[in-house]
Amino acid sequence: MRIAVAGATGVVGRALVPVLRAAGHHVTALVRDPASVDADAVLTADALDPSAVRAAVAAARPEILVHQLSALRSPTAFESTARLRREGTASLIAAAREAGVRRVIAQSIAFAHAPVGALVVDEDAPLYLDAPDPGWAMTVGAVADLERQVLSVGGTVLRYGALYGTGTQYSLDGPFATALTRGRYPLAGDGAGMTSFLHVSDAAQAVAAAVESAATGVFHITDDHPVPASSWLPSFAARVGGPPPRVLPAPMVERMLGWPAAHQMTAQRGAANTRARATLGWHPSRVPEWTT
Ligand SMILES: NC(=O)c1ccc[n+]([C@@H]2O[C@H](COP(=O)([O-])OP(=O)(O)OC[C@H]3O[C@@H](n4cnc5c(N)ncnc54)[C@H](OP(=O)(O)O)[C@@H]3O)[C@@H](O)[C@H]2O)c1
Repeated sequence: MRIAVAGATGVVGRALVPVLRAAGHHVTALVRDPASVDADAVLTADALDPSAVRAAVAAARPEILVHQLSALRSPTAFESTARLRREGTASLIAAAREAGVRRVIAQSIAFAHAPVGALVVDEDAPLYLDAPDPGWAMTVGAVADLERQVLSVGGTVLRYGALYGTGTQYSLDGPFATALTRGRYPLAGDGAGMTSFLHVSDAAQAVAAAVESAATGVFHITDDHPVPASSWLPSFAARVGGPPPRVLPAPMVERMLGWPAAHQMTAQRGAANTRARATLGWHPSRVPEWTT
């Protein structure tokens, strides 16, 4: 099949392009900087420039358009990613409609649920649109907007768990690991908040499975072992040679690390992957070392 990947230079995109090519697909990378992408074709467009996106998607003539855009490395990570989720998605969807793309497959997140009900939830659980933190409420609002747009064209939404592996926030040599090594990442409160992790290579395999499947809708793409912070944070610290994290009251951790980190450690829900396993025929093949 002809597939176009927006975000082909990202952490997930770089893992994904070779997987799709190895499966025999013709992959066009839609990028801002063509310097370092190994794809069958490379086209340049800024996702926030609708006419450039329209021209690139028309030239790529994809049957499937994969959306892996995020701006989480930007200094204005939350604002810029929210803008990409709203406006970048709108550009891609408009271009996909015009070019007669059969299906859009887009990245979302599996940790935007409201902290109500079960500790591990399915795709029908409510999103935290009324989160008390304005930055997180904006993020969740943009996530909901992206999902609405993708579903409006019969697309597939893959909600990734917390990504780990090379180049991610949770890589063993990344800034998070460094903070733990230096004893600078405390555990908030009782650490009952749940995290569902996902290795980057399992994210790439999930996109490949979604390409092959006729199924549409929303899927949690997460590993099999949602874990509370009280368990995974000390394990991660030990794995990177750091001291056991200090336990501090949640409001103090919120002041130190910000609301999202305190929320993750105290109230976040895990995300069950049952639907993706049953419907997409995908399953995670990796288990994070710090949850075993
Ligand atoms: N589920 C999760 O935990 C989750 C989800 C998303 C991200 N993250 C974290 O965020 C980090 C990055 O992961 P990622 O692969 O999602 O993001 P990434 O590696 O930053 O990749 C983002 C992609 O979007 C592209 N992009 C950004 N703005 C664009 C624009 N205006 N127009 C066109 N392309 C644009 C980037 O292109 P350029 O190369 O040109 O910048 C890049 O290809 C990791 O640390 C990861 O752990 C986590």
